[in-house]
Amino acid sequence: MRTQVAIIGAGPAGLLLSHLLAQGGVESVVLETRSEEYVAARIRAGILEHSSVELLEAAGLGARIRAEGDEHRGIYLQWPGERHHLDFVDLTGRSVWVYGQTEVQKDLIAARRADDQEIHYEVSDVALHSLEDRPYVTFTDVSGNPRRLDAAVIAGCDGSFGPSRAAVPAARVHERIYPYSWFGILADVAPSTDELIYAWHPNGFALHSMRSESVSRLYLQVPNGTDPQSWSDDRIWDELSTRLGHGQNGWKLNPGPITDKSVLPMRSYVQTPMRHGNLYLAGDAAHIVPPTGAKGLNLAIADVALLGRALIAKFRDADQRYADAYSDDAQRRVWRCTHFSWWMTTMLHTSGDEFDAELQLSQLRWVAGSRAGATGLAENYAGLPIGY
Ligand code: FAD
Ligand code: DHB
Repeated sequence: MRTQVAIIGAGPAGLLLSHLLAQGGVESVVLETRSEEYVAARIRAGILEHSSVELLEAAGLGARIRAEGDEHRGIYLQWPGERHHLDFVDLTGRSVWVYGQTEVQKDLIAARRADDQEIHYEVSDVALHSLEDRPYVTFTDVSGNPRRLDAAVIAGCDGSFGPSRAAVPAARVHERIYPYSWFGILADVAPSTDELIYAWHPNGFALHSMRSESVSRLYLQVPNGTDPQSWSDDRIWDELSTRLGHGQNGWKLNPGPITDKSVLPMRSYVQTPMRHGNLYLAGDAAHIVPPTGAKGLNLAIADVALLGRALIAKFRDADQRYADAYSDDAQRRVWRCTHFSWWMTTMLHTSGDEFDAELQLSQLRWVAGSRAGATGLAENYAGLPIGY
């Protein structure tokens, strides 16, 4: 098989890249280890920033976001006894959208189907070869046949466990592991809030998010290694009530049937450069952020916006300049989001140290109480322009 761009991974980065390339007249083939049903159902991120929505709309993928997504003006920031609303639209003119990654993924799969995009699901033994010359990928297809895919370019969109990242020799890696994880639940109950609540509490951080008018998504800071099945539903709701301030100024957290429990370890990871020869990395293949700033999915979309433009210029106009600039261009935003995600994480997660707690509370009061402080958070959360 031969194509212009071999895309490894059918997550949001890989599928959006193949969609943008097709719109620019560039051919691609996508390889994915999991099944189509599995990638469409994986529960992950929930917030799209302003420029992600703009990009998806411009790519013809905005209809369901507009119809079924929920536009939010901002978030609540709280600590015991206080809840403050930060209005991003008022502060920056930009909003965010609650629209689950599962929905983005379904829209992308439908769009790729409509285009007859070649996607090989349930492949194995994916290996990258000859990256500096005539690259190709070998793999075993779903029927067990060995296959070879030749391409001018390989796009490594295979997330944090795929083989692309390791195919960049002598890459520099920057990493921070956090001493806590997020325990996430999905519940069949109407959200108890109109906008997300990010809560600092001496017991640990809690977040109230949502997926729809009848589905809530909530998170608790827990120690690393926590087994999600070791927490009963009652214990989860009790702890969420405590940390989110049930009873505070008459506010109530409505519990409901829990349909999913998972624990997500937290780390920051940046690999530089994001290119080696004819291999380009995008999304989680090149960087991981802790989820507190809701940046992981948005950063994958921003990478792909740059990479799509670069590869279209390369193939359609024989212009290599954007491709050569891609890694440096992408890394500017990667480091901005890496800083913001680290900053939100360290401001909101407790360590048991009283000095840290006082610094966090002081910072929270300043962010919530000062227009300058609030604008800094709002600008980063609602997202910088794609070309930042
Ligand atoms: P992925 O979505 O990981 O896609 C990579 C794809 O490559 C996958 O489909 C994978 O199966 C495939 N693949 C892997 N190996 C191979 C191979 N050898 N060959 C072919 N294909 C391969 N972000 C937030 O902002 N908020 C959240 O709440 C949040 N929750 C998360 C929960 C979990 C459990 C995880 C893992 C991530 C979460 N994230 C969250 C991060 C966000 O989901 C990611 O940043 C986003 O999915 C990145 O998209 P991607 O396409 O780069 O990578
Ligand atoms: C969600 C996840 C996040 O990481 C975040 O900061 C906000 C919301 C969510 O899954 O809804």
